Amino acid sequence: MELPPRPKLYDFHGVSMTNYFTDNWDNVQNFKARPDDILIATYPKAGTTWVSYILEMLCFGHSERQNLVPLYERVHFLEMQIPSFPSVVELNKMSTSPRLIKTHLPVQFIPKSFWEQKCKIVYVARNAKDNAVSYFHFDRMNMAQPEPGDWNSFLQRFKEGKMVFGSWYDHVIGWWEKKQSHSKLLYLFFEDMVEDTGRELDRLCSFLEVSPSAEEKDNVRERVQFDNMKKNNMTNYSTDTVMDFKISPFMRKGKVGDWKNHFTVNQNEQFDEHYQKRMTETDLKFRTTI
Ligand code: A3P
Repeated sequence: MELPPRPKLYDFHGVSMTNYFTDNWDNVQNFKARPDDILIATYPKAGTTWVSYILEMLCFGHSERQNLVPLYERVHFLEMQIPSFPSVVELNKMSTSPRLIKTHLPVQFIPKSFWEQKCKIVYVARNAKDNAVSYFHFDRMNMAQPEPGDWNSFLQRFKEGKMVFGSWYDHVIGWWEKKQSHSKLLYLFFEDMVEDTGRELDRLCSFLEVSPSAEEKDNVRERVQFDNMKKNNMTNYSTDTVMDFKISPFMRKGKVGDWKNHFTVNQNEQFDEHYQKRMTETDLKFRTTI
């Protein structure tokens, strides 16, 4: 696919976005959720692909289709409008039950029918430092994202919220607060999933009200391991034409604490200072090591 130049960030109702995620805005906002739809919501690079695959396995088990169709075509990306990728129009036609739908939208942008239909929502959050590092490498290799610039300037923009889908702080806090009023929202942490995938799988099973056998659960755990997903061409994005794996792979490290290989002492001190100020009003807590 011939790609246009990288998109530019612009202010969209107070959130930095690119046209790839706002071009279809009316269709997205008017999307008619069904009561059994399951929404997977994340800030970019928090483990969306991982939890999408887990949810798919828990809802449908393993099927031949998983060997043939890339995950990003099985779990549709609600707001993305990029030629040759499925859009909200295809999502409307999707007949599976439940439909698994992924979004990176901040909570205030979620189409209202998801709330009206009281859909189940799984939110995954990742600590800011690892999230920033992962996002930096993603923007380097993904030609549908704005130019990341160098690491130092990227980190500065991350703090200021000048990223696609806006501020990490606003995103994770906005969704955390939504938990108070929407009972069907499960808020997971990437760090917990790395620490004990089996335990988080159990939490997902009770939330989804599914009861796989011990053997099925072992099978899911095996398939969703980082190394297996990295090898799996249907989950590692190797079929995605906008990504340049020569620059960085999509399945990069999958670790907690890789930020230590990127932050200088000075960057870390300044980040911590800024972080404290931004997080004073919330009881939301993250772990940067496990
Ligand atoms: P890194 O860049 O730190 O490796 P998203 O799917 O939201 O874009 O998130 C991508 C991040 O999740 C990447 O982080 C990727 O490696 C990590 N990831 C994906 N699958 C994973 C898995 N099975 N186990 C651990 N991390 C995983």
